[in-house]
Amino acid sequence: MERRRLEVSDYNSSLSAWHRDPNGWHDNDHRHRPANLMHPDFDLDPDLLYLNHAAIAPWPQRTVAAVARFAAEQGRLGSQRYPVWLEVEQRLRERAARLIGAESAADIALLKSTSEGLSFVAQGLDWRAGDNIVSLAQEFPSNRIVWETLAERGVELRTLDLAANEESATNAESKAEVDPATDPAADPEAALLALCDARTRLLAVSWVQYGRGQRLDIARLATACRARGILLCLDAIQGLGALPFDLAESPVDFLVADGHKWLLGPEGLALFWCRPELRAHLRLTEFGWHMVEDMGAFDRKDWQPAASARRFECGSPNMLGIHALEASLSLLEETGAETIATAIEARIERLVELVDQAGFELLSPRLPARRAGILTFRVPGVDQQRLYQRLMQQGLMCASRGGGLRFSPHFHTPEAQLARAIELTKKLSINCFPT
Ligand SMILES: Cc1ncc(COP(=O)(O)O)c(C=O)c1O
Repeated sequence: MERRRLEVSDYNSSLSAWHRDPNGWHDNDHRHRPANLMHPDFDLDPDLLYLNHAAIAPWPQRTVAAVARFAAEQGRLGSQRYPVWLEVEQRLRERAARLIGAESAADIALLKSTSEGLSFVAQGLDWRAGDNIVSLAQEFPSNRIVWETLAERGVELRTLDLAANEESATNAESKAEVDPATDPAADPEAALLALCDARTRLLAVSWVQYGRGQRLDIARLATACRARGILLCLDAIQGLGALPFDLAESPVDFLVADGHKWLLGPEGLALFWCRPELRAHLRLTEFGWHMVEDMGAFDRKDWQPAASARRFECGSPNMLGIHALEASLSLLEETGAETIATAIEARIERLVELVDQAGFELLSPRLPARRAGILTFRVPGVDQQRLYQRLMQQGLMCASRGGGLRFSPHFHTPEAQLARAIELTKKLSINCFPT
């Protein structure tokens, strides 16, 4: 596949050009650059079409360089530069705090995964028999299993099935036949809130659903939960990095997101935020030297949990991952959340157009406000799983999710790759009959 690499010296002007028009950008002389150019911070294999950020993202070059530098330092100097590494860790917390609008870097805990953060909430709250949790039937397993474990403590998990009306909606002659009052997908926030009652302690949802990419209005849910005294736990992994987020606008109580998707970082390092007033009420379930207030005092026998979010970090930090994620967040921050969201939306909009033109069946919401970076569709009359495998063999990185093919471009995805991806999908669909 054709791709022109940029010289390093081009970087600054390319980047500012890219910022001016990330969809098919223009250089300083206003010559149109073809939309298949790589963003200057990425160096993906030209033989790949990379539409898999909702699974695992490729790293920006600055992240690759940060990891290489860290490895070289560790190899030559061991821990000699640990004080400098701690500065990188602090910078990561500061960037994470800015990313979500948290008041302080001390409110950010660096965990190993989204699942770990969700587990801290599930195992840490003071449940009483008869309490209930409201969630979606289409949640990722991590955001279901943790709540299911509470059944033994008498806590009920109530789920809203977004697909409950799917069949009737599909069979209806026109959209007008689908009654929005009984279709949970039409107003999922209202339907979720309708499931809550006086014993609902927590609403546990993903910002963006992993399979078909349905985006929830978190500001609306958070405001309603506040008014009713219900806690809101947000699995933000499919939204954070793709969309702007601000705790002031969306006052959730817990937020967690791993770094390896839209944050363009490594696996094994997640950002966890817990409303500071709630921190002391969350019973801790992991303990060790790193989570105590007086962390360096190894000879002290008495201890108390750190007042900061560090209380959730029981042992040695993932310093390698910290260097990687700090570099990745620096790119997101320099680019700007609004620019990123606009670029992603343009790519998703283009994919919708291409999917429609190809006669494929769109499974993701059509309304831009209901989507983020995920677009899922079915190719009619075709074995979706076989098609998916063929596409992957041909270098189209995507996923088989939500009953179809899930494409997930990021802001840096060259726009020309979208048409190529749909063309390849059409081509490989031939003879891909259901078995
Ligand atoms: C919505 C959602 N939540 C949680 C996870 C799992 O995250 P982690 O591996 O960080 O626990 C995923 C992974 O795909 C996801 O899509």
